[in-house]
Amino acid sequence: MQILVTGGLGYIGSHTTVELLQKGFDVVIVDDLSNSKLNVFDKVKEITGKKPYLEIIDLKDKIKVEKLFRDFNFDGIIHFAAHKSVNESVNFPEKYFKNNIGALENLLENIDEEMYFIFSSSCTVYGQADRMPITETFPIKKSESPYGETKQICEGILKNFCEANPLFNNITLRYFNPIGAHKSGMIGELPLGKPENLVPFLTQTAIGKREQLVVFGDDYNTSDGTCVRDYIHIEDLAGVHVSCLEYLIQKKNKANYEFYNVGTGKGLSVLELINLFEKVNNVKINYRIGERRKGDVVIAFADVSKILKNVGWECKFSVEDALKSSWIWEKNLKNE
Ligand code: NAD
Ligand code: WQD
Repeated sequence: MQILVTGGLGYIGSHTTVELLQKGFDVVIVDDLSNSKLNVFDKVKEITGKKPYLEIIDLKDKIKVEKLFRDFNFDGIIHFAAHKSVNESVNFPEKYFKNNIGALENLLENIDEEMYFIFSSSCTVYGQADRMPITETFPIKKSESPYGETKQICEGILKNFCEANPLFNNITLRYFNPIGAHKSGMIGELPLGKPENLVPFLTQTAIGKREQLVVFGDDYNTSDGTCVRDYIHIEDLAGVHVSCLEYLIQKKNKANYEFYNVGTGKGLSVLELINLFEKVNNVKINYRIGERRKGDVVIAFADVSKILKNVGWECKFSVEDALKSSWIWEKNLKNE
């Protein structure tokens, strides 16, 4: 089966491509290199011993997307390609609306027959949920950022598209916090510039690229005062896409629009995560407590029973595994 992986050179896309190739799928990667590097393609080939197709295309380019669909005959699409910086989206909202929504629309315009489709959404669509854990029945709250709004809009577009096209089968995955790197140490997260997310900032501090990690607030109403998140190993996250694709191919889905939380189901505070990183990797992190970060939700962790019940998927890796792999990755980056 031929699967189009958009954003396949990015963090989640590259790990998923590896998993797909190892399961025997034929993969066509599309990426515009706006947040990735070409050498990821070589690493994917080296890890798997297989050669996916690669098309350097900006999905906003209608003409090139039409040609892509003429050149290949996709059975399924996993759509990762999007801009993902919450901060940047606040300053450049149009860039986010044009790219994240425009890319999806250009893909859908070329689909008129049976297609399996998996869409990368985010726990950000829930905003600050009223209670924990977050189930898929929780309301979608007004978004804190244009980035979050693009995810909400794309979910709506896909829902409508499914209603109008019974042969189109979509799964929307709402990821919680992906962390870690591939066990080979060859691919991982490549944040450009100063990282916004906790784990890349932490590993860069550990290795000396950053002087100090600032913990954004310790006066929240949580066990130790710091925010709580659900950190999922990137290899688990890659695996869920393959499980969902197989579930669609085997026609186990009950509706042609389904959506799932993807996390571990466990919440960890910022301080717990730092302590765990220090313990499993035997390194000290230079950190201090700072001001709260504007827009942060206090607690977010997933109820993952729906995806276990329907798709039969659950995590195999621990947060400890993820933190070990992220440290190995950071050290390998230093040697590049
Ligand atoms: P990433 O930036 O590493 O990967 C996205 C890839 O898409 C990049 O390689 C980029 O070059 C490419 N891309 C962006 N716009 C494109 C376009 N117009 N045409 C072609 N390629 C384009 O991000 P990621 O962390 O791998 O995230 C993948 C998806 O998951 C995104 O949709 C993101 O919003 C979503 N997501 C990520 C997280 C997270 O914390 N990483 C959490 C929830 C959801
Ligand atoms: C985790 C915790 C910070 C950095 C973001 C997006 C969300 C989704 C996942 C895509 C928070 C704290 C962080 C630092 C810190 N992405 N922190 N010091 O905020 O859960 O979500 O990524 O869809 O949309 O908003 O992840 O890694 O930024 O932060 O104390 O230098 O770490 O306050 O509590 P977050 P994160």
